[in-house]
Amino acid sequence: MSEKLDQLQKHALEKPEEYWAAAAEAIDWYKPADKILDDSGAPHFYRWFKGASCNTCYNAVDRHVEAGFGEQTAIIYDSPITGTQSKISYARLQSKVARAAGVLKSLGVEKGDRVVIYMPMIPQAAIAMLACARIGAIHSVVFGGFAAHELATRLRDATPKVILTASCGIEPGRVVEYQPMIEGALAEAPDIIKNVVVFQRDQATWNMKEGRDLDWHDSIHNAEPADCVSVEATDPLYILYTSGTTGQPKGVVRDNGGHMVALKWSMKNIYNVDPGEVYWAASDVGWVVGHSYIVYAPLLHRATTVMFEGKPVGTPDAGVFWRVIEEHNVTTLFTAPTAFRAIKKEDPNGELVKKYNLSKFRSLFLAGERCDPDTLHWAQDILGVPVIDHWWQTETGWPMASNLLGVEQLPIKAGSPTRAVPGYDVHVLTPEGETLAPGEMGSIATKLPMPPGCLPTLWNADQRYIDSYLSEYEGFYATGDAGYMDEDGYIYVMSRTDDIINVAGHRLSTGAMEETLSELDDVAECAVIGVADNLKGQLPLGFVVLKSGVDKANDDVVKEAVSQVRTQIGPVAAFKHCVVVQRLPKTRSGKILRATMRKIADSEEFKTPATIDDPAILDEIKIALQGIGYAQ
Ligand code: COA
Ligand code: AMP
Repeated sequence: MSEKLDQLQKHALEKPEEYWAAAAEAIDWYKPADKILDDSGAPHFYRWFKGASCNTCYNAVDRHVEAGFGEQTAIIYDSPITGTQSKISYARLQSKVARAAGVLKSLGVEKGDRVVIYMPMIPQAAIAMLACARIGAIHSVVFGGFAAHELATRLRDATPKVILTASCGIEPGRVVEYQPMIEGALAEAPDIIKNVVVFQRDQATWNMKEGRDLDWHDSIHNAEPADCVSVEATDPLYILYTSGTTGQPKGVVRDNGGHMVALKWSMKNIYNVDPGEVYWAASDVGWVVGHSYIVYAPLLHRATTVMFEGKPVGTPDAGVFWRVIEEHNVTTLFTAPTAFRAIKKEDPNGELVKKYNLSKFRSLFLAGERCDPDTLHWAQDILGVPVIDHWWQTETGWPMASNLLGVEQLPIKAGSPTRAVPGYDVHVLTPEGETLAPGEMGSIATKLPMPPGCLPTLWNADQRYIDSYLSEYEGFYATGDAGYMDEDGYIYVMSRTDDIINVAGHRLSTGAMEETLSELDDVAECAVIGVADNLKGQLPLGFVVLKSGVDKANDDVVKEAVSQVRTQIGPVAAFKHCVVVQRLPKTRSGKILRATMRKIADSEEFKTPATIDDPAILDEIKIALQGIGYAQ
């Protein structure tokens, strides 16, 4: 289909060391690698650029200043929610990051120590991340939409010395104060952190605790700038927790060297962005998209990145994305399909686009959830630029499948993120591990070793890494996604093979929600499934069975359940629907039939499973669901 792409893929898979050594030339190393791909830990553990030393912050900031680009804008902060904007040049960024790194050093943070960052979409979040990278500390950013309990879980696992935070985040119509969240988490996970550094925002005041809390402004003002330290390419840059199948999130580890090489390569080859251009990932620093494509990749590439604190609709309207593109000369936008569904709902004919000059805008990239063909076509029609669905996950850190706009654009097939990116050997497998023929549905896996940038392991959990990803198919990394490939090698990602759901592009575990619900005193058992939603793609829906003797109105139970998930996991879970049922449908061996329940809720056809214990329960489930507007 494309000789150029075929050749790239062949090269990357047959001679991976040669291929990635060439890509690594775009990075400044203090010392080159002794071994490009260290496979001494095979069949499970592979390390890229073994023996090399480097610094990610140096490559993302300092080297651009040294090369004479200090005056170029590094970060554009555009916050319609607060009505503010600012620009930070590479030179100013260097000075701010060096001082923030100095603050960390003065608090005793050393190479290898962990620092938790709990911040909204403000430039200080990027500065905090880069400051950690500068001194070799490992950051772990926690998304602001997670509640205290989730933060505590991450604190216990990462054991950071310091938390960098702000007094609040801002959501439409409400100020989200961070102090109660952090105090709650520290009460649940005591004796871990020593200090909290707080960026005070005008919208809320943090009540400083003597001896523990420091003011971001004051301490940075007084700090000695700290230099970049040399770290091993294989040293961790960050830990990012992502939903697993239980309440214990997985700490995805990212290294320094492979990460830089992969991200830098992706900026030109996938996104077709050149240094000096403006690239905008409309996501949040708390997600992998924020790590890779708000902070690290654009800065490594000397592009200008946009940090947008707002929503696609309502801040103030569904034209805000077009306003930002016009005002800042954005060439490339990356967001989740759900953002476009939200815009389409408000402005179905794309009238607002016509008000803005989008002449510099070249392409839209979508990821984070399956992109339904309707949304893709609508975006193409109103924007008149290529709309590129691409597929990846927190674990890989950069796209596994995409149209490579910087190499050669392949025909767009709606519903497919195109073909595997060079370096990823993607297969669709049977449960026995046989590669399936085109068109046949199976589990999507990539052959080991994966290219640079992908997770080398899980934080403090090598065995969990093997169990979660590598043990299902020998020699493969199981992505947890299911789908098929067509004759042209286009991949179609259709669903998950586990209990992870995608709500407005946010990855959530229904298993974690079940664990939380089962903590309620009145609940005997429960199930949470993901049901289809026109706007958010999926929404969680809960079923609870009460303990015998509980005499409470169903409405009260539902209210408690909704509040439990919101306070324990966070508002981002968007858990708003729940029903009380007498029993849950199960197999004779006691397994809850969640897939059948989902089909009933989504009004899809289903077969009563042969293994069901009591088929009559399905009717009870249907009636209960009809009561809340599902299963019509
Ligand atoms: N801090 C605190 N609360 C947050 C939050 C944050 N950083 N982010 C979201 N929330 C809250 C929201 O306020 C909302 O609370 P509510 O139940 O009180 O209304 C809840 O979490 C759900 O948020 P969200 O999923 O964002 O839904 P929404 O209805 O506010 O907005 C969209 C819907 C589609 C506009 C929004 O999800 C969106 O912009 N999505 C873009 C996708 C994206 O960024 N994906 C990231 C991966 S690429
Ligand atoms: P996250 O780790 O939060 O980035 O979520 C990753 C998961 O989102 C993937 O494993 C997929 O299930 C889903 N996903 C991401 N991008 C796509 C896409 N382009 N098409 C279909 N599913 C996607």
